[in-house]
Amino acid sequence: TDYTLSVDADRTGPAIDPTMYGVFFEDINNAADGGLYAELVQNRSFEYGPVDNRSYTPLTSWQHTASGGATGTLQVVDDDQRLNERNRNHLRLNLAGTGGGAGRFGITNSGYGAGMSLKDGARYDFSVWARTDNPTGTRLTTELRTADGGVLSAPVDITVRGDRWTKYTATLVSEVTTTTGRLSVTAADSGTLRLDMVSLFPRDTYKGRKNGLRKDLARKIAALDPGFLRFPGGCLVNTGSHHAYEAPDWERRRSYQWKDTIGPVEQRAVNANFWGYHQSYGLGYHEYFQFAEDIGAMPLPVVPALVTGCGQNRATDDPALLKRHIQDTLDLIEFANGPVTSTWGRKRAEMGHPKPFGLTHLGVGNEENLPDAFFARFTEFRKAIEARYPEITIVSNSGPASGGATFDRLWDLNRRAGVDLVDEHYYEAPQWFLENNDRYDSYDRTGPKVFLGEYASRDNRFSNALSEAAFMTGLERNADVVKLASYAPLLADVHQNQWRPDMIWFDNDRSWGSASYEVQKLFMNNTGDRVVPSRASATPAVSGPITGAVGLSTWATSAAYDDVEVTAANGSTLLRDDFAAGAARWTPATGRGTWAVEGGAYVQSDEAAENTLVTAGDTHWRDYDLKVRATKKSG
Ligand code: AHR
Repeated sequence: TDYTLSVDADRTGPAIDPTMYGVFFEDINNAADGGLYAELVQNRSFEYGPVDNRSYTPLTSWQHTASGGATGTLQVVDDDQRLNERNRNHLRLNLAGTGGGAGRFGITNSGYGAGMSLKDGARYDFSVWARTDNPTGTRLTTELRTADGGVLSAPVDITVRGDRWTKYTATLVSEVTTTTGRLSVTAADSGTLRLDMVSLFPRDTYKGRKNGLRKDLARKIAALDPGFLRFPGGCLVNTGSHHAYEAPDWERRRSYQWKDTIGPVEQRAVNANFWGYHQSYGLGYHEYFQFAEDIGAMPLPVVPALVTGCGQNRATDDPALLKRHIQDTLDLIEFANGPVTSTWGRKRAEMGHPKPFGLTHLGVGNEENLPDAFFARFTEFRKAIEARYPEITIVSNSGPASGGATFDRLWDLNRRAGVDLVDEHYYEAPQWFLENNDRYDSYDRTGPKVFLGEYASRDNRFSNALSEAAFMTGLERNADVVKLASYAPLLADVHQNQWRPDMIWFDNDRSWGSASYEVQKLFMNNTGDRVVPSRASATPAVSGPITGAVGLSTWATSAAYDDVEVTAANGSTLLRDDFAAGAARWTPATGRGTWAVEGGAYVQSDEAAENTLVTAGDTHWRDYDLKVRATKKSG
């Protein structure tokens, strides 16, 4: 079949906003604690519990240690000696003495995943809140260790004095590079020692910020050059129990409320995460705004709308509560933009950012199932925000990803009310993305604009990325309607995740982008100014799996390219073209085993294989420096 593409270079198409392509960060798949948030200690304030996840206890990821005949007991307690009203649990150690020598009694934290990732010669900031009833003080030692007690750093001694909570700090220097490190805190002497907020941060965080972000992950996000950062969810934002909106701020199952997440970290609330784990809120609203600023992205927070979306069907009928949440949202705008003389602007300044963050867009609600109940509440939020901050663009939504009647009803309500932006979500097969390239061609040019807040084709293969790239050309062609678009989810821990596919994968040490990451990067780093109008005579029909060769930044199909060869950085040939009848995989030119190339830069071995690059049995995706050579087929 012949297809004709007509390009009308004389006409001017719609302008493409520089903020069109952005990222959506949700704390799903361990994206925050154990992910982007650089804290190495897991369960640092002993707040884990079955309310977060049935397998958790307040001592999850902690082990007790005793040496040299030292004895004692330890227990996590929530008593009136607590650090503060929000940080309720702490560790009480009853020290029974050193056994007459240099014995020590204490605890070890195993971090996330296999342990703590430590680099030889790197500095780590240790801190702990502590108090002791021993009148002469309690000698505390902190050091980096292996799982079986081997020494990884010089020990640092601290003397805890007085029975009032005090913060102690130290710097540890790792003497090795390892991915299985431990933090040990041990005490000598006798008496009752209380510990809380035991923390260890790499000094080398993204942009060197305190309470900062893991550098490799933050850099990968920054390399996308995103136009905006939507945060903190997703379903994370607006769910929880029916009473979650009014629960005391230290109680779990509370909806995500931004005021819980700012201020000194030891005074922030903690919460059960909708995705089945614990969230420390160490990565909170101030850090999100700061990160957005650091990567040059427009911040786009989403607040709950007092209805439980994401498959739940409950709305909170409490005018006083609604009023409080609307006030909280106004306060959020003041926190982001207000002068330092305002109540919330002052709090921002106290956290180290006197300059406003320049908030312009704000989402209310996510994937709402009850269109009318949501819209009634949304309208109240909107009225209050517009009255006080008419310059803020408010984002409404279009219900669950599956669409249907809720989608139609919400679009109708949004359209009739003249809402500025409507958030759409969908997760579909690659085929759907290919077949729906024209989705926005028929959208009403005079109605609300679209914020495509979440989308992905269902898998992390090259063909998924290709179908997303094809679909994105349709978004761009309709840049007058689609104003913002973000792939989702952004981050996933390989060992602990609730949702696939994802854009960037990580473990406790490494991170790598999926093929979809490369597509997003390509579009975000090459956003045009204007659409050049074009028309295709037809869209080629696609059947069967899409197979293809890909250069690191050149997207092509096997039909168009021949003689493809992939070489490793050391020059060895890793793969040669073997496009046997629609094969999705290539066979290796050297070595044994089967190899798959996804997105040109990501290689996975799914059999034991001997190769110059990958050790036998390694089944994890890795980022390799590969070179792809391909010759265009003649004709
Ligand atoms: O991106 C994962 C989830 O998908 C989001 O939390 C939710 O909005 C959607 O259903």
